[in-house]
Amino acid sequence: MIICVCHNVNERAIRKAVEAGHGSFEAIQMELGVATCCGCCADHARNLVSELTATACACRPVARSQPLMQISEPAA
Ligand code: FES
Repeated sequence: MIICVCHNVNERAIRKAVEAGHGSFEAIQMELGVATCCGCCADHARNLVSELTATACACRPVARSQPLMQISEPAA
């Protein structure tokens, strides 16, 4: 589905940009030009980026300072 008619940007392109690490609406604007012409797509694009970044955050691995479980060697 086309999100930004002025720059011919579809939902897939925005999704790929978010997956590539562009984690804010402003970053997507810089990368794809979304909402930088007439601005009609701004609300829809902003909502889509928010939805995608929220999803991306839930899937990111969490860095741990300690292992989840300590496996001990059997006594000899
Ligand atoms: S439709 Fe996106 S800037 Fe015009």
